[in-house]
Amino acid sequence: MNKDFQERIEEWKNFLFIYKFALDEINTKLTILNDEFQFVHQHNPIEHVKSRIKSPESIMSKLQRKGLEVTTENVEKYIKDIAGVRVTCSFTTDIYRIYDMIESQDDIEVLSVKDYVENPKPNGYKSLHLIIEIPVYLSKGPEFVKVEIQIRTIAMDFWASLEHKIYYKFEGEIPGNLSTELKEAADIVHYLDSKMIRIMEEVTEFKEHEKEAELREVGVEK
Ligand code: GTP
Ligand code: MG
Repeated sequence: MNKDFQERIEEWKNFLFIYKFALDEINTKLTILNDEFQFVHQHNPIEHVKSRIKSPESIMSKLQRKGLEVTTENVEKYIKDIAGVRVTCSFTTDIYRIYDMIESQDDIEVLSVKDYVENPKPNGYKSLHLIIEIPVYLSKGPEFVKVEIQIRTIAMDFWASLEHKIYYKFEGEIPGNLSTELKEAADIVHYLDSKMIRIMEEVTEFKEHEKEAELREVGVEK
């Protein structure tokens, strides 16, 4: 193999390694926040977390799509989703809880927020997207790494994964009737998410009344 080529491959591997460290840090943070929340509120806002590093092939084709030269400098400057984390939660309200917890971390800087929950995309896509920056402490000092975080409910995730598959099956040109059906499915997903919150609120209220009744029984007024 050509030496120059091999050196470039090594350079890229080293360059991408730091994104793995950033994901490790975010994953640890999310686990701690979720466990603490469970301990304090007896409810865990996070259902599951999935993370991925964009493949060198996808990074290169994204740069080419943007008409940019394939250099590590351009990657750092223009590609913000090399490290990606997807956080799935039960309720829409949890999305903003998780956002608040991330935003209030001293070492995390939120660089941008796209709220497709409040303002869904025309196709019905909902999720909260953040680009954050987190320091990774290497032997030579801290390096600031960008990570894309997508936060959505299980129902939103169900819809998005199906839509993603269909999108690729039709190479980005989904036929009109299928788009309409997908949009209808998105509306049902949004209805389901609101319904789930109402049920959860009723459960909480019921449990509070039950607790008050128990306290009254033992003679303690709240
Ligand atoms: P990219 O250049 O593709 O990263 O998009 P962008 O810079 O316009 O950012 P945006 O926040 O809109 O989307 C980023 C990511 O969100 C995508 O890579 C997908 O993972 C996800 N996403 C955005 N829109 C959709 C959608 O309509 N359907 C699905 N299934 N996923 C979407
Ligand atoms: Mg992307």
